[in-house]
Amino acid sequence: MNIATQAVHIGLEWDTRTGAVTVPVYQTATFRHPGLGQSTGYDYSRSGNPTRQALEDGMARLDHGVRGFAYSSGMAAIANLLLLFKPGDHLIVTEDLYGGTCRLFDKIFSQYGLSFSYVDTSDISAITGALLPSTKAVFVETLTNPLLKFADLPAIADICSSNGLLLIADNTFLTPYLLRPLELGADIAVYSATKYLAGHNDTVSGLVTVKDPELAEKVYFHQNSVGAVLGPQDSWLTIRGLKTLGIRMDRQMENADRIARWLDVHPRIARVYYPGLEEHRDHLLMAHYSRGFGAMIAFEVASPELVEQLLLKTALISFAESLGGVESLITFPEVQTHADIPPELRARLGINNVLLRLSVGIEDADDLIEDLRQALEATA
Ligand SMILES: Cc1ncc(COP(=O)(O)O)c(C=O)c1O
Repeated sequence: MNIATQAVHIGLEWDTRTGAVTVPVYQTATFRHPGLGQSTGYDYSRSGNPTRQALEDGMARLDHGVRGFAYSSGMAAIANLLLLFKPGDHLIVTEDLYGGTCRLFDKIFSQYGLSFSYVDTSDISAITGALLPSTKAVFVETLTNPLLKFADLPAIADICSSNGLLLIADNTFLTPYLLRPLELGADIAVYSATKYLAGHNDTVSGLVTVKDPELAEKVYFHQNSVGAVLGPQDSWLTIRGLKTLGIRMDRQMENADRIARWLDVHPRIARVYYPGLEEHRDHLLMAHYSRGFGAMIAFEVASPELVEQLLLKTALISFAESLGGVESLITFPEVQTHADIPPELRARLGINNVLLRLSVGIEDADDLIEDLRQALEATA
């Protein structure tokens, strides 16, 4: 079945008693036991809640995993996954990583004995060059934030399986609609569901899918022990968002393609990073493995003054963090989303004082282009 259909049907079969078409919000902390030593399958909402489970099961189906897990944010999901490791363990990590993930690794988990090497994970030799006897995992973003480099998951999975490493893929920018990491060799996929999955900039949530039942048991143990679970109301909102994943992604990608091509030839734009452009370094690789190029665009304006002009003079496109929702958003990674990346690394990567990141929404493409044009060309 096509994933767009599967997504629409999440939770549909849940309430057999009334036949409700959407899963109810089970707003309860606890569940009555039918008898001594008996359970309905639900005991306490940290351990399991029917609305959350409808989301977790649905996501596992979309990603072809054995099990899904929902957390109170994408960061909570990533933090829970790091509990799979022990002091002394080393992880190889994508270098242009979301700044919050970098902060979690360097400022928190490094205090508990984990170490991280940042490499360009779209370069296979950089990964093999970083291997240490203590390496236990490779953590990649399938499409990186903000520079949109694409990871060759099957090639990375080969390295991982020959060295006994876990492969964890943050697939936030692509979603299972475009690419399923578990099918391409990852052991675990993780998502900021706040973004495309929930899709409406109205809830913060995180999702994980796992390929192997034994590994899934460990992840569940940590989810239940730590308790950073997604509440029933937010689980319901995430399900509702997921139902329109296919239609939103198609529209957002169509808009992004038009906008990227318009920006690419504008005299006040110095450089465009968008994998749908034929000159993008990973265009062909991504065309092979992914059903589309996503709807994120990073671009450099011709001078630093244009940064503020674009951020403040766009009327339809909001200057705000986050991405993936129906509303278009623009941000300045150097100062906002990626401020926690060490300045030398930022400079080497190209996250500089003229780089902007645009999350393209579902508005009319002509309106978005007109908004960018009036802001870019506002002063002579
Ligand atoms: C690629 C990526 N991973 C993880 C996160 C963290 O997710 P959340 O903000 O839901 O905690 C983000 C947030 O921007 C992100 O862009």
